[in-house]
Amino acid sequence: MDGRGELPMLEVITAWSTVGIYLHGAHVAHFQKRDEPPLLFLSQCSRFDQDHPIRGGIPVIFPWFGHREGMGQHGFARVKTWEVKEVVPAADGSVSVKFCLPESPEASSYPPFTVDYVVTVSDSLHLELIVHNLSKDEALTFEDCLHTYFEVGDISAVTISGLKGVKYLDKVANFAERAETKDAIAISSEVDRVYINTLAPVEIRDSKLGRKILVEKSGSNSTVVWNPGITKAQQMPDFGNDEYQRMVCVESGNVGPQAVKLAPGGTSNLKVKLSTEPM
Ligand code: BG6
Repeated sequence: MDGRGELPMLEVITAWSTVGIYLHGAHVAHFQKRDEPPLLFLSQCSRFDQDHPIRGGIPVIFPWFGHREGMGQHGFARVKTWEVKEVVPAADGSVSVKFCLPESPEASSYPPFTVDYVVTVSDSLHLELIVHNLSKDEALTFEDCLHTYFEVGDISAVTISGLKGVKYLDKVANFAERAETKDAIAISSEVDRVYINTLAPVEIRDSKLGRKILVEKSGSNSTVVWNPGITKAQQMPDFGNDEYQRMVCVESGNVGPQAVKLAPGGTSNLKVKLSTEPM
């Protein structure tokens, strides 16, 4: 079916939930359980065209995270049209959709590789990004991240836990290294942190929507927490001025000092499970 901007989109409906995935970026733009508000935030101001990433949902960040001089931000995977390899309904009622990243000129500066992405939909959302280094003699170095935007009722009623004691690079303080001191992190202004060396699950408690979101992961050593706050929100062309109040990104990946160095012939699997519970 056509999604917004006439970009092709797959809609999958299971007994528990509905998901909408654009081929542009293999971008999960929507996931909603029955009788629950959407799990994923999607900006009212998002662009839906071939040249820009979608603002919200789950951008797939690969092969670099953050800014690269002359190459833009967050890699090229999020603006490529991925191919659908298969759609597999399972006996338990879940449905898996497998995408692969097409070849592109930007990939030519890397050793040869493939990237597959499997999205499995049930009462929860399972995501798996699989990178395979096809080279026989060269390591493949890259960053990856599932840059998940969660919908929240009101950012001032949200806490994020699971990161106490973890070191982070504070991007709003010129990458200063700090350690998290809080059991429950609250957000009252711009937050942009790369937590390093953490495999821990993260819980987002949202008292306004009355739900807990659990982010569980494996093959991911970094967790990024981002909310642009009001000033940055106003500067972003594809994000509403007030929308920082209704979202928070908790991103699972391998970024910065934790870029992946994949041996020749090696495979890396980044897995994330997103689930919710009432509270
Ligand atoms: C976060 C980064 O992951 O993504 C932030 O840590 C960045 O620094 C944000 O601003 C959004 O990036 P973009 O390229 O989608 O505007």
